[in-house]
Amino acid sequence: MSQNFSRRAFLSTTAAAAALPLVPALATGQVAYGLRAAPGRARLVPEPWGETPVWCYDGAVPGPVLRAPQGARLSVAVQNGLATDTTVHWHGLRLPNAMDGVPHLTQPPIRPGETFAYEFDLPDAGTFWYHPHMQSAEQVGRGLYGALIVEEAAPPRVDRDVIWVLDDWRLTQEAAISADFGANHDQSHAGRIGNTVTINGRVPDEFALRPGERIRLRLINAANARIFELDFGDLDPRIIALDGQPVTPHSPEAGLVTLGPAMRADLILDMPGAPDARISVTDGFYPQAAYRLVDLVAEGAPLRDGPPDWPIALAPNPLPEPDLSGAIRHEITFTGGAMGGMVMQGMGLQMDHRGNGFWFVNGVAAEGHVHDPILTLRRDASHVLRMTNATGFHHPIHLHGHSFRVLSRNGIATPHREWRDTVLMAPREQVEIGFVADNPGDWMIHCHILEHQAAGMMAVLRVA
Ligand code: C2O
Ligand code: CU
Repeated sequence: MSQNFSRRAFLSTTAAAAALPLVPALATGQVAYGLRAAPGRARLVPEPWGETPVWCYDGAVPGPVLRAPQGARLSVAVQNGLATDTTVHWHGLRLPNAMDGVPHLTQPPIRPGETFAYEFDLPDAGTFWYHPHMQSAEQVGRGLYGALIVEEAAPPRVDRDVIWVLDDWRLTQEAAISADFGANHDQSHAGRIGNTVTINGRVPDEFALRPGERIRLRLINAANARIFELDFGDLDPRIIALDGQPVTPHSPEAGLVTLGPAMRADLILDMPGAPDARISVTDGFYPQAAYRLVDLVAEGAPLRDGPPDWPIALAPNPLPEPDLSGAIRHEITFTGGAMGGMVMQGMGLQMDHRGNGFWFVNGVAAEGHVHDPILTLRRDASHVLRMTNATGFHHPIHLHGHSFRVLSRNGIATPHREWRDTVLMAPREQVEIGFVADNPGDWMIHCHILEHQAAGMMAVLRVA
C-alpha cells in the first residue's frame, strides 16, 4: 500500500475515526545523519562588528536542518568536539526512553571526543528541534541547536516552506557571548534575557517574498528565556500546527503568535499581491521593550492577485486520544522565584534545605537529572495533570516523550484543545493537560526557561 493511498483512506474517514489510534505512515526506510558539536564562529551581527565565537553543530548556527519523512527511521551519530560533556535531546519527538538524550537518566554523557549513535522511528510529522540536555543553559545559550523537520506524505500546497529559528543572545560590545551563565538574578527572575534577537543565526532586517506568495512559516523558539509575541501587522497568519502537532487552522487571538522557549508554531502566510507591500513584524511580549523584528518585503513579479484557495489543514498524527472521563488525575505545583515564593527569605528568594534551588516542583528543587519520580503514571492509562503556577513568572513547561492536549486554563476549556509538548503558563495560572502515558520510562518534566531548569524547576515522571 503506498503512502498516498493510506493517506487518502485516512482523509475519507477522519470524522469517524477521530478517536481511534491511527496507523502510522508506512516506514520509508532509514535516514542517516552525522552531527558534530564543536566551537565555531558565527556572523550573528552585521559589520562592523566581528564574528561571534559560538558552540554549534556542523560549524553553523543553527545547526543543519535534519529532514526525514514521517514513518522513517532516523539515525544521527553525534560526535562531541567540545571540551565538555554533552548529549542531544530531540525536543518533542515521541521516541524510546533510551534515545531521549537526558544525561545520567537515559544515557551516559557523551565525553569529549566520543560519538553516540541515536536511532529512532518518526511516528509524527511536524516541526521539531534538537539541542543538548547537558548544562543546557550554557550549551543552548552558546548556539547548540537546530531544526528537525518530519515531512508529511502530502503537505498542504504552498509556494515555499520556510523555517525561522528564533534566538536571543546576550552579547558584549565586542559581539562576544557574555559569559555570565548561571547568574543568580537570571535564575531567580525571568531567565537570561539577551540583547540581540536573531532569525536563523542572523540579526534580520528584511525578508523578501513575491507579491501574492503563500508560505508555510515554521517558527521555533530556541532562546533560553525570551518569550515572543509576534504581530504580523495587516497579515492574517493562520496557525496550522503547534509544537509540531496539527491543530484546527485558526487565526491567533488578537493576531498575536506567542511562543515561549522551545515552542513552535507553523503558520500559513499570504503576502499581499501589491508589488510594493512591506509589513513589519514586531515583538511586544515585554511591552516596555517592544521592537521591530523584521520587515516582510514584496519583491519581483506578483504570483497572483489574491490569496489562493488551497486547503491548509494538516492530517493529524497518530496520537492516542486520552479518555478524559476515566483519566487518573494528578496535581503538580510550581513554586519559588523572586517575590513569588510562599516563603520569603533575605532577598525574597526561596531556598530548599540544601540552599541550592530557586524553583520547586511539588516542593522539591531538582539537582541534576536523576532523582526519585514525583509521580508514577500507570502505563497506557489516561492521565490529567492539573498544573498550578504559584509563582510570579511565566513558565513554559515541557514534558518529554509524550504530546498532551491542553484542556483548560483557569478552569475554562481551551478553544482548540491543542496537542503540545510545551505549555506556557502565566503567573498564577492553572492549566490542565491530558494524555495517554503510552511511552514507558523515566521522563523529564521541566521549565524550558533554561535558567529556571538549572535552578531546580525540573522533575521526573515515571511511566510504568
Ligand atoms: Cu527541549 Cu528537556 O528539553
Ligand atoms: Cu520557568
